[in-house]
Amino acid sequence: MSIVIRGGTVVTAEQTYSADVYCENGKIVAIGENLEVPSSAEVIDATGQYIMPGGIDPHTHMQLPFMGTVASEDFYTGTAAGLAGGNTSIIDFVIPAPQQPLMEAYKQWREWSEKSAADYGFHVAVTWWSEGVKEDMATLVRDHGINSFKHFMAYKNAIMADDEILVNSFEQCVKLGAMATVHAENGELVFQLQKQLLAQGITGPEGHPLSRPPIVEGEAANRAIQIAQVMNVPIYIVHVSCKDSLDAITRARSEGQRVYGECLAGHLVIDESVYRSDDFEFAAAHVMSPPFRSKEHQAALWKGLQGGNLQTTATDHCCFCAPQKAAGKDNFTLIPNGTAGIEDRMAIMWDAGVNTGKLTMNEFVAVTSSNAAKIFNIYPQKGAIAVGSDADIVVWDPAGTRTISAATHHQNIDFNIFEGRKVTGVPTNTLSRGNLVYKEGDLRAVKGAGKYVKRKPFSPVFAAMAKQAEINKPTPVPRG
Ligand code: URP
Ligand code: ZN
Ligand code: ZN
Repeated sequence: MSIVIRGGTVVTAEQTYSADVYCENGKIVAIGENLEVPSSAEVIDATGQYIMPGGIDPHTHMQLPFMGTVASEDFYTGTAAGLAGGNTSIIDFVIPAPQQPLMEAYKQWREWSEKSAADYGFHVAVTWWSEGVKEDMATLVRDHGINSFKHFMAYKNAIMADDEILVNSFEQCVKLGAMATVHAENGELVFQLQKQLLAQGITGPEGHPLSRPPIVEGEAANRAIQIAQVMNVPIYIVHVSCKDSLDAITRARSEGQRVYGECLAGHLVIDESVYRSDDFEFAAAHVMSPPFRSKEHQAALWKGLQGGNLQTTATDHCCFCAPQKAAGKDNFTLIPNGTAGIEDRMAIMWDAGVNTGKLTMNEFVAVTSSNAAKIFNIYPQKGAIAVGSDADIVVWDPAGTRTISAATHHQNIDFNIFEGRKVTGVPTNTLSRGNLVYKEGDLRAVKGAGKYVKRKPFSPVFAAMAKQAEINKPTPVPRG
């Protein structure tokens, strides 16, 4: 199958220029003005539009078993909705239950993800520690294309990783050439604050942000970064929601530490007032961790993106419908944590970022696609418009508009946190490895068409860092 996209402007993280893009057998094979292509090629007219790398959402949770239920969006519906929004890849999370072998969980997630309509990879969570976990991490990197491991510093009595797990796992990460990633919230503090709030009779969703104040996130981010510094491992902080954790990242980066930060489209445009609604369904639908913050924190996140201290945007797409959220009707700590957004991230980032002048178009491409591909080592296979790259492309109409609504979105959830927001800038055509899977409202996602994307370890950088980690090890000082 071959497709030529004609008459548009190519926008990458580095460049903006007029060119046609020709795709054959899933790859970009030619870029240039007035390309001569076989007459059999399908033509997409991109006049007045931008041709950009398809979005990469590096943080999703399709059909995640979590907090006594299972996320309503599966790998097919979720990736299909992503394609409608201009996303061509996701990196989801394998999350083993404590004591469950990592390999067993990994195989389970690989089975679930076979129905994906778009390409996908996995971060694997380290939720407990043993020699077996250490060996499985090595097997996953060596044989299965995993190059990042996730650590939840929150969710005590469930999947929380304490400092002992962090230290052991980070040490193994650097040996393997894998990235350590963390959900930074102090799980013990959250647990104690939740107990105090419930004892005071605060049982509604308004208790959720009170139990997870910014300082709780800042403490965990600082701790994880400093442990990473001692272990000499690169670290990626997921869903940075506040100034406290951003400051920790900024400080460490200014000192030369290899630290990366991700923020969510939701955290950039939604504030904490949503939890003060009297409507339980509305407030509970926004319960996610870390919670939505004040406008001051939002402003700080935008500056973090603009200044390069935050490099990626994601959604943490994790869908629970109203009947699932109702589990926490009388106790906010039982509301399943998670919100959706995969279909809307690109449009939100364009509308709130590019249209307001906060981001250039090239920065938009960097933070929605290329940076994630670079950080997780799949660039330029993904995240690029270049000859030889996968033909994962979104054709973007900067003048097109959409009013976001649960009534019209493709996501398998009964609520949309961006409900009623009118965005200017929409995808018109999405190509997934050269297949036209979305065209002007017509979603042509194919169940099972998505491929698992293996990611190589970061050998050269890590070899040097592993060597440095050995040098950093304390040496006994001779007595006398
Ligand atoms: O509330 C959230 N974020 N749910 C999904 C799990 C996680 O913490 O990322
Ligand atoms: Zn998280
Ligand atoms: Zn998450």
